[in-house]
Amino acid sequence: MAIPFIDLAAQKARIGGAIDSAIRRVLDHGAYIMGPEVRTFEANMAAFAKAKHCLSCANGTDAIELILRGLGITAGDAVFVPAFTFVATAEVVPMTNAEPVFVDILPDTYNIDPAKLEAAIATVKAEGRLKPAAIIAVDLFGQAADYPALSEIAKKHGLHLICDSAQGFGTTIEGVQPLEYCVATATSFYPAKPLGCYGDGGAAVTNDDALMERMISFRVHGGATPSDAATMKFEHETKYLNVRIGMNSRLDTIQAAVLIEKLAIFAEEIELRQAVADRYAEKLSGKVLAVPHVKAGYVSTWAQYTIEHENRDGLQAHLRHAGVPTAVYYPIPLHQQPGYEMYRSGGLDLAVSEAKAKTVISLPFSPYLKPETQDEIVAAVLGFNG
Ligand SMILES: Cc1ncc(COP(=O)(O)O)c(C=O)c1O
Repeated sequence: MAIPFIDLAAQKARIGGAIDSAIRRVLDHGAYIMGPEVRTFEANMAAFAKAKHCLSCANGTDAIELILRGLGITAGDAVFVPAFTFVATAEVVPMTNAEPVFVDILPDTYNIDPAKLEAAIATVKAEGRLKPAAIIAVDLFGQAADYPALSEIAKKHGLHLICDSAQGFGTTIEGVQPLEYCVATATSFYPAKPLGCYGDGGAAVTNDDALMERMISFRVHGGATPSDAATMKFEHETKYLNVRIGMNSRLDTIQAAVLIEKLAIFAEEIELRQAVADRYAEKLSGKVLAVPHVKAGYVSTWAQYTIEHENRDGLQAHLRHAGVPTAVYYPIPLHQQPGYEMYRSGGLDLAVSEAKAKTVISLPFSPYLKPETQDEIVAAVLGFNG
């Protein structure tokens, strides 16, 4: 049987019955938009994230945008983002009329480099064209960024620290989640993510009441919040009082129903993921250019198991031939993407991002990856002599 890159079928075999029943319940009550499962899921997510609030939305990209808009990020603001991430992290910034400023990553964790962030902030301040406003740190491949260091920098310069945990929701540092250090965390429920649904979905979690109120408004067309309504006279439903230019970014009730079931086993799946990662490390460590490095005290959710190889493209072709699917996250750092050329941040060194784009390759991964399948994958990797 072909090896899947991410084995969603194995999870479905485990909880498919419960998911079918959950979907059927939605079909029976028919509240497809903002139905009761959406509220239940938001409450369960908030509890899991140890957050006061959870706002579900249509996808992870919107979750980041909702946070930025809720914080009032706007034209003239600089938002610092890693150069080595999925494009969505940077894409949302121009949507607020602010500008992304790319920062290099650390070579061992692939996450934003705090020292280089300091340098980027200094450069932007010296240039004087933009006002440093926010940092979006990414928990790449599942491991939390260095939030203790980043939050010090954010405090020192008066910046909002936002966590893009689309790949790392559930990751911890000494037992606490990134939200402990950030104003809000965004995540994605894209099916391949550690916590995914059966379509598109996303969420933002926060402890900030005012931010939550504004995000609720932006999520559905900029409708009046209770605070807005208290200061305005309007005789119709406040739903039709549009105080700001918003968006339409709701999580479907059916997806919320699926996610309730998946979140119930998520903590256990994170442990299963760790066991799979440990097996890869045991067999590949020292035999390829690099295996993932998880810092002491950190727990990764292993969105990807990413190794490095000097002849990455050769290894990928070899594995394809051996029936092992792989993926390259990411072949082009964001500052080199044609759509982002105008944001090439002058003078800032992004050499690590550029080098990693040439060597990284992600192997098949799932909490249910069987040892014998993993052995096949490892044998195929080790059988490459290129
Ligand atoms: C780091 C990162 N940020 C944001 C996103 C966007 O999530 P979505 O695809 O749900 O919009 C992704 C998803 O691939 C991601 O990997």
